Amino acid sequence: MIYDKLLTSIGRRLEGKVAVITGGVAGIGKATAKLFSQQGCRVVIADIQDDLGHSICNEIGAEMSSFVHCDVTKEDEVKNAVDEAVSRFGKLDIMFNNAETIDPPKVRIMDNQKSDFERVVGVNVTGVFLGTKHAARVMLPAKQGSIINNGSVSSIVGGIATHAYVASKHAVVGLTKNGAAELGRVGIKVNCVSAFAIASPFVKNVLKNYEDGKIEKSVEGLACLKGVNLGEQDIAEAALYFGSDESRCVSGHNFVIDGGFTVANTSFGIFDQ
Ligand SMILES: NC(=O)c1ccc[n+]([C@@H]2O[C@H](COP(=O)([O-])OP(=O)(O)OC[C@H]3O[C@@H](n4cnc5c(N)ncnc54)[C@H](O)[C@@H]3O)[C@@H](O)[C@H]2O)c1
Repeated sequence: MIYDKLLTSIGRRLEGKVAVITGGVAGIGKATAKLFSQQGCRVVIADIQDDLGHSICNEIGAEMSSFVHCDVTKEDEVKNAVDEAVSRFGKLDIMFNNAETIDPPKVRIMDNQKSDFERVVGVNVTGVFLGTKHAARVMLPAKQGSIINNGSVSSIVGGIATHAYVASKHAVVGLTKNGAAELGRVGIKVNCVSAFAIASPFVKNVLKNYEDGKIEKSVEGLACLKGVNLGEQDIAEAALYFGSDESRCVSGHNFVIDGGFTVANTSFGIFDQ
């Protein structure tokens, strides 16, 4: 039994670590919670969808996971999620600020409501700020830790999502850089992962009229890199790198997972012949 455990733990990239994952019950957050636990990390899943949260913890196992109800816009609930990691598993090594929301797809600014804008900024920006603040509260005394924020290609280019979403994701990069500048002084890494569109529950809900497979096809069509479909697992793998010691010298990055969509403008069509 002990020998079996030892064998499965060899080569696990997050062995012995503890993570909090906000928005961890769906899409990228869920894929990351599962991957982290397979890699030896105990995870606190912090989300507003309690039933799903409990069922994912059942799948992962009580030894490796815990669910806390947490609305990332509420400071006491974010504090509580971080405290759960410390009280249940003894520490916090990785904070994945992943929860998000988006406003209704009325893209023209004249159709946008201030309340929708503020709701998006509340979850996507204030949520990342609070997650960083409370992770830092327990990481600073330990003089180590990895904070990973979930951005988007909308953190780099405009014109592909609503005003609120694009503004919020640009702000996440600002928080990443400022966090890296301050917290790096005591050995805490702060990075961001930024994906192109993935057919997660959230994207499928926004793009209701797209038939199955169309989102993946559109993304591949716009990316430089052909022949691969971007999936939740690709972002989870990037988060795994930033959570692990393999990235020990890497901080302040916005790591883009988009098949080269944001690095080339192919509208001249010079490679089309
Ligand atoms: N799916 C994509 O195409 C895509 C692309 C680029 C970036 N992202 C980013 O990846 C992250 C995850 O996206 P996803 O597609 O997996 O989304 P998703 O909608 O599938 O999951 C988001 C999760 O956040 C939770 N959540 C919403 N509001 C919350 C709140 N106030 N407090 C706590 N939890 C809350 C939801 O319950 C859900 O579990 C987001 O930051 C998103 O902006 C997604």
